[in-house]
Amino acid sequence: MDKIDFYMNEFVKDLKHKSIFEYLKNVNQGKRLRSKLILKIAQPSDEAYKLCAVIECIHLASLMHDDVIDEALTRRNTPSINAIYGDKTAIMLGDILYSIAFYNLTSFKQEISACVGLAVALLSSGELLDVELGESFNEDENKYYEMIYKKTSSLIEASAYAAALLVDKKDALNYKEFGKNLGIAFQIVDDILDITQDEATLGKPNLNDYKEGKVTLPYIMLDRALKDEDKKRLRAYFAQTLNKEEQSWIKEQFAKYDIINKSIKIAQEYGEKALKCVDNPDLQDIVKKMIFREF
Ligand code: FPP
Ligand code: MG
Repeated sequence: MDKIDFYMNEFVKDLKHKSIFEYLKNVNQGKRLRSKLILKIAQPSDEAYKLCAVIECIHLASLMHDDVIDEALTRRNTPSINAIYGDKTAIMLGDILYSIAFYNLTSFKQEISACVGLAVALLSSGELLDVELGESFNEDENKYYEMIYKKTSSLIEASAYAAALLVDKKDALNYKEFGKNLGIAFQIVDDILDITQDEATLGKPNLNDYKEGKVTLPYIMLDRALKDEDKKRLRAYFAQTLNKEEQSWIKEQFAKYDIINKSIKIAQEYGEKALKCVDNPDLQDIVKKMIFREF
């Protein structure tokens, strides 16, 4: 992974912007799922590390913009760029990181730059859909799946596909399908952890999604299970800051209807679907660790 950092720093070194380096140092300590996939599929090489750096820069740029949109003050347990420098700087630093990633993406063959380029368009329209869906209580599971495919899975799909293209795998499209299903499983797990994990583990408040107006899969399933008064109560809590008692009520309902286990099962099904796409035992471990992670 040091080589990924090396390339990321190389990309931005001529920009001489102090906050980009700080951000790379402090916040760039995520799970790096996308890079893990690339290195397992394409095997380590200078080109593969450079592709990882391109994808991680795009991912970080998208998080910088996402934190402005979500008005998030923390990211991975450290203050977000918008919290430190304000929205304007965070947006422009995201633009810089994103553009420099694209500049470096042009050194790869056309199919690779096309698939990553398309993923960024999907990712951005997924974020827009996420914002639009947050305007009222979304009970439509299909819209939720469309949104998480675009917002999260598209870049994971492109990472797996681009890695397969990099080493000229004949079944590159199967890796694409693998990445797509893994990406959907990943976002479902993320949405579950928002409910089950505490603030210290998450690096952001617990039950934050619902407060932000995000009706994730567990909430859609709970809404469907609840009757009359309780359904009304859940919907009244949508996009509100809740007190301890209200938060406990939501958690009790999740437990009563076994929603968390049911949601994990769906994530697992997507994980299994992903593994059926490729005959690559190295990827099994990544899928399992991703589904049973704690943050
Ligand atoms: C996190 O979602 C956000 C994303 C995965 C995508 C964000 C995409 C954009 C802002 C489009 C702009 C793209 C570029 C490249 C500049 P979340 O809010 O559900 O997750 P979180 O809890 O990690 O914030
Ligand atoms: Mg966010």
